[in-house]
Amino acid sequence: NPLNFSGVWRFRRLLPFAPESAIVTIGEGQTLLQTADAVASYVGVEAGRLKLQYEGMNPSGSFKDNGMTAAFTHARMVGARRVACASTGNTSAALAVYCSATPHGFKAIIFIGSGKIAYGKLAQALDHGALTIQIVGDFDDAMARVRQVADRLGIYLMNSVNPFRLEGQKTIMYRVLEASNWEPPDWIVVPGGNLGNSSAFGKAFAELKELGLLKRLPRLAVVNAAGASTLDHLYNQAGMRWCDGEPDLRLADGYYRSLDAEGVKADTIASAIEINRPVNLKKCLRALSVCDGVVTQVSDQEILDAKAQVGSGGLGCEPASAASVAGARRLRREGIIAPSDQVVCVLTGHQLKDPNATVAYHSGDRDLFDHVLGKRGVLRAGFANR
Ligand code: F0G
Repeated sequence: NPLNFSGVWRFRRLLPFAPESAIVTIGEGQTLLQTADAVASYVGVEAGRLKLQYEGMNPSGSFKDNGMTAAFTHARMVGARRVACASTGNTSAALAVYCSATPHGFKAIIFIGSGKIAYGKLAQALDHGALTIQIVGDFDDAMARVRQVADRLGIYLMNSVNPFRLEGQKTIMYRVLEASNWEPPDWIVVPGGNLGNSSAFGKAFAELKELGLLKRLPRLAVVNAAGASTLDHLYNQAGMRWCDGEPDLRLADGYYRSLDAEGVKADTIASAIEINRPVNLKKCLRALSVCDGVVTQVSDQEILDAKAQVGSGGLGCEPASAASVAGARRLRREGIIAPSDQVVCVLTGHQLKDPNATVAYHSGDRDLFDHVLGKRGVLRAGFANR
């Protein structure tokens, strides 16, 4: 069965919402769980204890394909033709690829913030022929806009507010478990932006436990960039939790009002996770509760340094992905992760997504560096300057 070539649909018995004949697939999810000892030593755990789940190997170069295949399948089931998203770049790249590479007549409409998208990702949207609309504002503004437009015009929304996206993204954890003989690691560490991935992972683990396929769940660590740290703030400072089935969303509303009052916008070199109003906040809090989770934040410098370690250790990734490694290192230093713990860091996107950030970091070219990275003039350049 050709569906077995998809790293998502070979788990279709755990995704029972679609008949096989409706499935929209481009062979996504053939990804790798790789032991990375150089990165283990950087993070501070014992050799053999750190693994990288490399989702950059997906057809569009990020983990988003896991969710897109499921959401496109649902869109096809309900007869949708026009599909839209707001994006920091990877969701839109995946959306554009699924529209152009499948024969079902989907038409892509993409909303991006101004100057907020890495060129590798924008290039994908444009080359695949998506209608690409740049708005005045950032991702949070684009997200609000696309929700209005999709609602008003009856366009199928492909952001991770779409629950079918999360269904597909659960399979990232199925593959991690499969590669670990269904013996869960101690920690899953994942960057947090719109919080779709972390929510999907929590749901995957909760369901596997309910099915009796897992006895013990891994702990979940969600890592924000310091310049886009809503979850960290709400979880660690405001003490917001999933409890009795409902978190107190007034805490989030209050925080958003304070950001607005001070004119604060999300701001990080990891543009993929430059998000202050995560649409899956509630689901993520539930995931954190199911998986005894922790939340932390890392600076842009920590992200870029970690990214270079990932690259020199074998696999490469984009800045947002390296937040997982930087976050694991921070949690190890704080004694939350132990040296003997088994840690899986999810590398969410491919190295070539954001080449400017990488070249600027390594080149020591002051102009490029200042232009791309040194927005606040605080970042140190990387390896080339050692
Ligand atoms: N890593 C990468 C490379 C991403 O592109 C994203 C999200 C995340 C991490 C965060 O994942 O939203 O599930 O918490 N990118 C979205 C986009 C927002 O539009 O491409 P999340």
